[in-house]
Amino acid sequence: MTETAAEFAGAIDRGLENVVACTTAISTISGSTLLYRGYTIEDLAAHASFEEVVYLLWRGRLPTRAELEPFERSLRRNMALPPEAFPWFHGLPTQVHPMDFLHAVVAGLSLHDPDANVIDDAANERKAVRLTARLGTIIAAYHRVRSGQWPLQPIPDRSIAWNFLYMLLGREPEPERVEQFDTCLILHADHELNASAFSARVTSSTLSGLYSSVMAAIGTLKGPLHGGANEQVMRMLLEIGSPERIDSWLDQAFATKAKIMGFGHRVYKEGDPRARILREMSRDLTREVGHPELFEMSARIDDIMQNKKGLLPNVDFYSATVYHSMQIPVDLFTPVFAMSRVSGWCAHVFEQYGNNRIYRPRGRYTGPVGLHYEPIERRR
Ligand code: COA
Repeated sequence: MTETAAEFAGAIDRGLENVVACTTAISTISGSTLLYRGYTIEDLAAHASFEEVVYLLWRGRLPTRAELEPFERSLRRNMALPPEAFPWFHGLPTQVHPMDFLHAVVAGLSLHDPDANVIDDAANERKAVRLTARLGTIIAAYHRVRSGQWPLQPIPDRSIAWNFLYMLLGREPEPERVEQFDTCLILHADHELNASAFSARVTSSTLSGLYSSVMAAIGTLKGPLHGGANEQVMRMLLEIGSPERIDSWLDQAFATKAKIMGFGHRVYKEGDPRARILREMSRDLTREVGHPELFEMSARIDDIMQNKKGLLPNVDFYSATVYHSMQIPVDLFTPVFAMSRVSGWCAHVFEQYGNNRIYRPRGRYTGPVGLHYEPIERRR
């Protein structure tokens, strides 16, 4: 170290807000429009299946029927966990955060996967299929084991959405519920350079494998400023408890400058289109399951946040009451986000490998310089 401070003096952009780190053709946000490969999220949510959207994200265009059928079959064939995983899966602790469990199981699965450290297009797609097919199975199995029940095996001729609800709840789900859950998976599948996709890209840019990239992304999604917000939204609603407590609860939160989960966004300033779709779903579902007050409370919080703070709801705000109405346990909300977003992470890793340069930004050094090593007995 020289006696002078480091010379590098590039502009600092905390949070990389104005940095364009790569080109991407997967998804984009403009105003309050979200496009996956050119299609609006509203169009896909209304007409596509999650499996079709996965194909779209990975291959760049919607499949024909002849292309979709084998693609769906390969996803469905891979939903079951490999038998080699059973002995250690059942030995894992379940009184842990389910995102940590998911992380550990993905790491464990990589140890049995002969493709784990092979980086070529065919191996990458095989791993992406296995991960996208299996995250829902892992989450449902985790919940069954911690509830003292045997995990259910996936039914290979049913969709990922159908199987997740079936394996979680232990009964065949109603077709309407499957359709709504499938829409949730579509809405969460990708979102440009969100923090977890960026993590996945940073990891893959070192030419580390897909499993490592997905594990990095799971860790990033877990935080309450990213995917962990949906769980916190539901906890907030349950803590508030009743509509007449909303004002005092929010006043207290504003006084302590606490962040209200499910509001605000780095990119959307005119509103998150996914939140609009989820708001309608939340209104219908909470009414259907006999808890309309949960939607009414959410809508009132939404009004206050807009009027007093100028902040709009993001994807995590209304998805909380949607998942709650589907009987998904609160601590599984973020893992459910991951079971969809894994498809986007894989798309980003494919794209990164296709045009790779390692991510290596600079930090502006603010520490001391010119110090000299002092033997330990002379230090004070
Ligand atoms: N509740 C209260 N205030 C909020 C807020 C929220 N949810 N989101 C942003 N703000 C305030 C910040 O406190 C900050 O105010 P200040 O300038 O007086 O300090 C200002 O709005 C800008 O917010 P900032 O956190 O700097 O924006 P960001 O782009 O760095 O962060 C989020 C974006 C999403 C992380 C942020 O809005 C947030 O923490 N939201 C809650 C968590 C959440 O819902 N995450 C899911 C995102 S999809």
